[in-house]
Amino acid sequence: MSAKPAMQEETARPETARLRVRAVSKRFGAATVLDRVDLAVAPGELVTLLGPSGCGKTTLLRAIAGLTLPDQGQVTIAGRDVTRMPPHKRNIGVVFQNYALFPHLNVRDNIGFGLRIQGMAKAGMAETIERYLGLVHLAHLADRPISALSGGQQQRVALARALAVQPTVVLFDEALSALDRKLREEMQVELRQLLREIGGTAIFVTHDQDEALTMSDRIAVMQGGRIEQYADPKTIYAEPATLFAMSFIGLSTQLKGRATGQDAQGLIEIDTQAGPVRARANFAIGAKVVVAVRPEHIGIAPLGNANSISGRLRMAVFHGAHSMLHVDAANGAQLLAQLAGGSPQPEAGAAVTLHWPVDKTFVYPDPDADS
Ligand SMILES: Nc1ncnc2c1ncn2[C@@H]1O[C@H](COP(=O)(O)OP(=O)(O)OP(=O)(O)O)[C@@H](O)[C@H]1O
Ligand SMILES: [Mg+2]
Repeated sequence: MSAKPAMQEETARPETARLRVRAVSKRFGAATVLDRVDLAVAPGELVTLLGPSGCGKTTLLRAIAGLTLPDQGQVTIAGRDVTRMPPHKRNIGVVFQNYALFPHLNVRDNIGFGLRIQGMAKAGMAETIERYLGLVHLAHLADRPISALSGGQQQRVALARALAVQPTVVLFDEALSALDRKLREEMQVELRQLLREIGGTAIFVTHDQDEALTMSDRIAVMQGGRIEQYADPKTIYAEPATLFAMSFIGLSTQLKGRATGQDAQGLIEIDTQAGPVRARANFAIGAKVVVAVRPEHIGIAPLGNANSISGRLRMAVFHGAHSMLHVDAANGAQLLAQLAGGSPQPEAGAAVTLHWPVDKTFVYPDPDADS
């Protein structure tokens, strides 16, 4: 790299992306682990890479951090091409699941570690450490050895240590997954608030959809080394771009079928395993498809412009604020209908007809069509 680090530049001129990944690919042997991945993260934005084990999340994070060299493509941070720059020159903070704290140092010295490496003056350093101790609520434990902290406290130290050096971007790889559920949920909210407070830009990696929904301004849904959808959580949930995104986030009923024609309103007609349905979608006649519907859109009350499927109630599960009806329909089809908590419910074993709006009927290509 011939260009000198130019940290000040980003404040001097407006920029659209704090971090940009362009067409990054990575292969390990015969396996393509990242397949032309594009990603842009705006200043102050909190982004989550969400996907199943092995989909390439950590590899993408490592390519951003400089720990893995992509085979193709480019990574820019604050407008600088860093694709071939070593990790320590990128001004990136990284927080992993296993904290990697220094066990022989106390809390204060762990948080100050990066500042010392940067060569910060003593007075400024003490002040910065105090500020971050306060931000993560650990001022009272500043002199404790790391070994005498709980998991959640250690996580806070790791966080403060990564943030104290004021990185351009902070990367979190499953950073909260070692914590128990209650603490994890507290930390999610706290971390989000803290990052907002300091205007931090962050990328989280998780396979926990609730964490992604809680933490993120945008979620990148990954599968097989590709980003299938990159959008805000509401859009991902309400308008999943792929069957995988629909399946990975939230619940859905899924019916296999085949496009058979178009009706007078231009709606596509699909013969599903459980009966005919209509949807607003574009498929060739004969195409094998999967019809998907969220449970909160399916009910037992008749509706206008709706799809209807009859079946038998296998069980109703009470969840407090709502109940979930599990309904068996023709040819092994299973439907999920969500009813409001207090509403009257059919008895198990009863014949029921389920209804949902045509506009809430999603249709995707059948991923098993060619096999
Ligand atoms: N250094 C490597 N050499 C060979 N294969 C690798 C290497 N690193 C990762 N892989 C493979 O690349 C694929 C993606 O791995 P990666 O760690 O990015 O997945 P991940 O999405 O982070 O999964 P998890 O949720 O389990 O952490 C996996 O199949 C993994 O086995
Ligand atoms: Mg991983």
